[in-house]
Amino acid sequence: MTRPQLLIGLMTGTSLDGVDAVLVDLAGAQPRLIAAQGSPLPEALRRDLLTLQAPAPNEIDLAWQAGNALADCYVDAVAALLAKAGVAASDVTAIGNHGQTIRHRPERGYTIQLGNNARLAERSGISVIGDFRSRDVAAGGQGAPLVPAFHEAIFADARRHRVIVNIGGIANLTDLPRSGDITGFDTGPGNVLMDLWIHRHRGAAYDAGGAWAASGKILDDLLAELLREPYLALPAPKSTGRDLFHANWLAARLTGRTDRIEDVMATLTTYTARTIADAVKATAPGVDDIFICGGGAHNPTLLAALARDLPGVSIASTAALGVDPDWVEAIAFAWLAERFIQRAAGNVPAVTGAAGSRTLGALWPA
Ligand SMILES: Nc1ncnc2c1ncn2[C@@H]1O[C@H](COP(=O)(O)OP(=O)(O)O)[C@@H](O)[C@H]1O
Ligand SMILES: [Mg+2]
Repeated sequence: MTRPQLLIGLMTGTSLDGVDAVLVDLAGAQPRLIAAQGSPLPEALRRDLLTLQAPAPNEIDLAWQAGNALADCYVDAVAALLAKAGVAASDVTAIGNHGQTIRHRPERGYTIQLGNNARLAERSGISVIGDFRSRDVAAGGQGAPLVPAFHEAIFADARRHRVIVNIGGIANLTDLPRSGDITGFDTGPGNVLMDLWIHRHRGAAYDAGGAWAASGKILDDLLAELLREPYLALPAPKSTGRDLFHANWLAARLTGRTDRIEDVMATLTTYTARTIADAVKATAPGVDDIFICGGGAHNPTLLAALARDLPGVSIASTAALGVDPDWVEAIAFAWLAERFIQRAAGNVPAVTGAAGSRTLGALWPA
């Protein structure tokens, strides 16, 4: 039996729904998930991180204070994860930590993920590999999406043309043809607009099971207006975030309208599905199967809209491929940490637009 190669992946995505922590064994051909831990973020920290995603005066102190608080959440998540798995910190090779994106400006040459990695290494006693996106941006890339290399390594199939769609706050796809070059990009909003709307009108974090959206009618004129967003028509490589799809983006498109709020919810859900479906049709017209991961996999109303827009394509969750859809992204960052340790490429230049393959990340030794 080969010795286990234990890594931890930490992911806090655009949705700000919490910390995803996974412990994986990467010794074999396929990652083996040993334990997973979802920890909510304290509401005050969540608010600060949301504030930091929109430019404002004196962000520096707030950012570094939030980074420390976030590092402490990561420390707690790692401790809970290891306790759950019955594994000692000293048996873990490294933590791959995505951090929390608060600004993503590849066109200006930077992308910022918060979370004090020095503090995380100090307090967890485990080496941390973080700041995965900066090197790709320095090489002229978008720094995103970074999961396609991982999707290719574990989901590609020589007999089936697959597309992996991750529906987090933002949605991104990876096109895995039977042979030839893979591609991938952010398609646009994932859950972010739906979350904004239900939070504003119902105080809920998200539309559980897509039930509220299912109670409304799709507003065709609003849908058409939302589809005019120029980002959708841009050629890849491209990436986006809350910098674009934020509350004011939505407000600007709703001014002067007097719609029923559940109809807007239905329309935002359909819009999210349509932007994903259009991206699939344009990029992967010959697709056989679509596999969904991320929190959007739990929204049947969204998935039904996607299926309507992509007749004849089989749509399932990555669970059908043996990987729980909730943990794909966190596992990907454990995998990227392992790539860093091997000094192997983590980016796919055809996906990010970087000048070439690069080892991604930086090391904070234990
Ligand atoms: N049961 C559910 N019903 C509907 N939507 C859900 C459900 N569970 C999670 N989600 C959606 O998934 C989001 C979190 O997805 P996630 O993949 O963690 O995104 P991120 O990577 O941006 O953190 C939530 O904000 C919510 O919109
Ligand atoms: Mg999340």
